[in-house]
Amino acid sequence: MRGVSVRDALDGARTAIGASGSESAALDAELLLAFALGVDRAALITDPRREITGPPVRVFQDLVRRRSVGHEPVAYLVASKGFRSIDLQVDSRVLVPRPETELLVEIGLELPVGARVLDVGTGSGAVALALKQERPDLSVTGSDISADALDLARVNAAQLGLEVEFVEADLLEGLSSEWDAILSNPPYIAESERASLPPDVIGHEPELALIAGADGLDVIRPLIAAAAQSEARLLAIELGAGQAGAVAELVAAAGFTEVAAHRDLAGIERVVVGER
Ligand SMILES: C[S@@+](CC[C@H](N)C(=O)[O-])C[C@H]1O[C@@H](n2cnc3c(N)ncnc32)[C@H](O)[C@@H]1O
Repeated sequence: MRGVSVRDALDGARTAIGASGSESAALDAELLLAFALGVDRAALITDPRREITGPPVRVFQDLVRRRSVGHEPVAYLVASKGFRSIDLQVDSRVLVPRPETELLVEIGLELPVGARVLDVGTGSGAVALALKQERPDLSVTGSDISADALDLARVNAAQLGLEVEFVEADLLEGLSSEWDAILSNPPYIAESERASLPPDVIGHEPELALIAGADGLDVIRPLIAAAAQSEARLLAIELGAGQAGAVAELVAAAGFTEVAAHRDLAGIERVVVGER
């Protein structure tokens, strides 16, 4: 197979990926080429004339095809996603952790020393593991209804050397009620939004991690009710644009007296926090 320069390989890939609708085509191309070559992204930028030859060319072409034609998320293709200061292994068993979810970790960082924290719907373990990494004094548990997701969360915990327990449960059913704080990024997309989701999301990420009934609140409603029955003094729930008002009302009605919505970097009310 003929060689090609890093610059030309990136140009071609950016065009193909961009034409398929990705809004991050340049970054996607760099991440895929760095993965194919087994180098850091920075190495591509410092040496754009470097020639790529042999098997990595074919590997890269295949990755670009899977991204542009198959719409596979880059994080699944490279089997990794950075979240705060940790790298998580990810695949189609779990949602790709999103930057806006880091807000939940930031809220957890304010908890008192030794607090017992439950991350409901932990997926890859992103929130639970990032929190434990930054606050080793906290006692952190992650739960999920998906046994497949929990398998991967446990792999991540082992790889990161973090002591977080992962348990299978439908919300808080069958779990202890002895938590100081409950954090959750549950599924919250309304059924009516399904058709407008990008193909890399709806075609590849687990439906269980995304869709939650007609108004997107089918998991959030019972989660609030269950959290209210527990000892948790703090409840923080991530939600979608436009849901903060309704969720804040539900959290207040469940007995959390101080309720506030926290905005993400895009200015969207992204997390509702209730305290009592
Ligand atoms: C939006 S994903 C969040 C994953 C991870 N916390 C993150 O932020 O990247 C929602 C997660 O909730 C889980 N889930 C859905 N319904 C659930 C339920 N009734 N009880 C527990 N977990 C649930 C899904 O399996 C999925 O892993």
